[in-house]
Amino acid sequence: MICLYKIARPLVFLLPAETAHNLTLKLLKIFPLPTCQSKQNAALSQTLWGKTFKSPVGLAAGFDKNAEVIAPMGKLGFGFIEVGTVTPKPQDGNPKPRIFRCPAHRAVINRMGFPNKGFDYFYKNFKRYKAEKSAEQDIITGLNIGMNKDQQAPEKDYNFLIEKLASEADYLTINISSPNTPGLRDLQKKENLLALITSIQAQKEKSRGNNNPPLFVKLAPDLDDTQIQDIAQTLLESGIDGIILTNTTLDRPADLPDTFRNQTGGLSGAPVKDKATQTIRKFYAATNGQIPIIGCGGISNADDAYEKIKAGATLVQLYSALIYEGPSLPAQINKDLLACLARDGYSSIADAVGQE
Ligand SMILES: Cc1cc2nc3c(=O)[nH]c(=O)nc-3n(C[C@H](O)[C@H](O)[C@H](O)COP(=O)(O)O)c2cc1C
Repeated sequence: MICLYKIARPLVFLLPAETAHNLTLKLLKIFPLPTCQSKQNAALSQTLWGKTFKSPVGLAAGFDKNAEVIAPMGKLGFGFIEVGTVTPKPQDGNPKPRIFRCPAHRAVINRMGFPNKGFDYFYKNFKRYKAEKSAEQDIITGLNIGMNKDQQAPEKDYNFLIEKLASEADYLTINISSPNTPGLRDLQKKENLLALITSIQAQKEKSRGNNNPPLFVKLAPDLDDTQIQDIAQTLLESGIDGIILTNTTLDRPADLPDTFRNQTGGLSGAPVKDKATQTIRKFYAATNGQIPIIGCGGISNADDAYEKIKAGATLVQLYSALIYEGPSLPAQINKDLLACLARDGYSSIADAVGQE
């Protein structure tokens, strides 16, 4: 499969990025990929929130916004898959083009603005996956939720989605950090954050039935030290179950070519890697490692994943590197992570968390 993707990539890159992505989703629905899960290995497995993650490497939100390809993506070696961001009502997002690649820097800029087919379509797909999945396709599935662009009272949209999804999700992520929905990042401010989380937690308790999905919050890498301290204290107070660090950045490193760096939107891939890791490090210290962190941003190999784990991440996620490295990436990272553990004398990935 590595060779196949290497051959196909120049052709894929002839297409505009979003066309290529939509084509990939269509093909995945028709021709599911062969299973390339690396052999399950106990050293990579962790039980968290009562669930067994067979690998610490997950698929980040945004790849499968409408929950259409959970089963095929679940065969690639990921330990968990996050679908969404879903909003209550369907919405078109920003005008196209709105995804831009920069292969020389292994980078992506997107200003999608949460295009998605809305809750009804998302839920139908998620239910179908749950009904039809085989034991081989059973994968921890997180549901990432957001608000519609025209919503003036954000907690209404979050609580609507929590009410509908809490009884069935493996975990839920409150996305308040995409840079492409006006006002969304303001929810990260401490005065807004505690109220929002408290309201969502109350809704979750009402709606979860016998299920008890952990609640995560996904944050931006563009936070200064004071904001990190404030948010960390607020999150400790709130009793949130996990923090996803990070979303895309508004930064534009100077070495990126002008035609690319001048695009509006969130930057992901290799250029966000160090900033995301630094954010993980700071939150891990500010929370005394008391809230599990899911590290994300610029991971394209096992060393990148391991670096985030040693900085304090219990799990990690990736998206942009899939575009450049192809579908064999998660299985390769699993294999190489085992070598990292062996080299450093750890018997399990959990032993490496926060050990830098
Ligand atoms: C095209 C694209 C769309 C994305 N859409 C979402 C989204 O809908 N919700 C979300 O929480 N993050 C979204 N993200 C952010 C990713 O989940 C991830 O946090 C970020 O890209 C950093 O990881 P990476 O460098 O491995 O891509 C998107 C990223 C890209 C590149």
